[in-house]
Amino acid sequence: MTETTRASWGSKLGVMLAAAGSAVGLGNLWRFPFCTAQNGGGSFLVIYLLCSFTIGLTLVFAEAALGMKVKSDPTDAFGWIHPKLKFIGGLCVFTSMIILPYYSLVGGWILAYVVKIFSMSSATDFGTAFSDFAASPVEPLIFFYVYLVGSAVVVYFGIQNGIEKFSKIMMPILFILLLVLTGRVLMLDRAWEGVKFFFRPDFSKLTGETLMNAMGQVFFSVSVGMGIYITYGSYVKDDTVTVSQLMRPVIVLDVLVSLLAGLMIFPAVFSFNVPVNAGPSLIFITLPQIFVSIPFGRFFGFLFFVILLGAAATSSISLFEVAVTFMCDQMKMTRQKAVVGFSAVCLFVGTFVSLSFGKLSGFKIGGKILFDQFDFLASNILLPLGGLLTCIAVGWILKSGRLIVFKNGIMQKGFEICIKWIAPVFIVLILLKGLELI
Ligand code: PFF
Repeated sequence: MTETTRASWGSKLGVMLAAAGSAVGLGNLWRFPFCTAQNGGGSFLVIYLLCSFTIGLTLVFAEAALGMKVKSDPTDAFGWIHPKLKFIGGLCVFTSMIILPYYSLVGGWILAYVVKIFSMSSATDFGTAFSDFAASPVEPLIFFYVYLVGSAVVVYFGIQNGIEKFSKIMMPILFILLLVLTGRVLMLDRAWEGVKFFFRPDFSKLTGETLMNAMGQVFFSVSVGMGIYITYGSYVKDDTVTVSQLMRPVIVLDVLVSLLAGLMIFPAVFSFNVPVNAGPSLIFITLPQIFVSIPFGRFFGFLFFVILLGAAATSSISLFEVAVTFMCDQMKMTRQKAVVGFSAVCLFVGTFVSLSFGKLSGFKIGGKILFDQFDFLASNILLPLGGLLTCIAVGWILKSGRLIVFKNGIMQKGFEICIKWIAPVFIVLILLKGLELI
């Protein structure tokens, strides 16, 4: 696509909210609370905050700066650093093809809960109800198709009329609902116990493992390692706006939503005396159980799942956009054709991923069902690998001085040290841990 015909964002606020929408998602509202619980509460929080504002920020800034400079898809962005690095862009597209189907499947489950919460009763055995639902051959597929096609429609309408408009509506609603729900939960009996657990650091619980879990969480939560900010940055037309002006709020909002999620989930969990480290089943089993047993709980449960749905949707559309931008810029397809083509691939792949909870549960790769294998491949290998390659490309191969992200010399120096040394070392550790080599 030539520069003159390339689409662009309508406003600074639009890019910021779309980028924040990509970062804010299930990682903040679902993964962060149980990761915190499993890693000792407040001490994990401290490390998470430190990692977000150093390594997370550095990678987001590097990706966005690349996109804003090259104004093309990740393949061209890395190709600009060195022609032999184009393959990193290809890896980004491949990663989006792995994450989108299973992330959308969870999106479909959430959509199902939005619809079903009012008909749930306190007599339901939520554990069985959830596993029966996930394993059934048709129902989760229908919700998954609706969710994925919904995300596709937003991307179909383009950068300004689709993604930007959707994010501008969704993000403020999300924040308001989150504040309302957190306020309600904080009024529960014994809510304070949960707040204390969340904020009181117990540094005796701090181990190397905690550190790596926090890093892994930051990685997933800010959506780095697969060219999302390169893609979104490539549509920034205004050359006077700086990377840090656009992207600092993204990190701040991402952290803020994680904090609100903690303030919503821990008080609820402590107040109802359910195990604090329930793990991934927290939002589909433990929380619905709580919602149906408090006054107006179903209404608040509905709000909770609407929040999750909005947060997941803005992340899904960013995953979509990476592949669509690639298909438009490299394969010269129209946006409409690219959206239809990529949706078809994801619907096809996602169908097998969904069936891996039921009919295909016997089909395992490396001892894992397809869903777990996709999650493992994306979170433990592809995202850290993409991040590591970004650090090497920007920190080592790109000649210094060509990617200025801060006007302030000291901050710029800090950025360079982080991208060259600190981030790669940590990412290698995450990779080794993800592969269970350490
Ligand atoms: N950052 C999103 C979340 O917190 O849910 C998840 C995500 C989106 C991860 C896109 C990775 C990604 F490429």
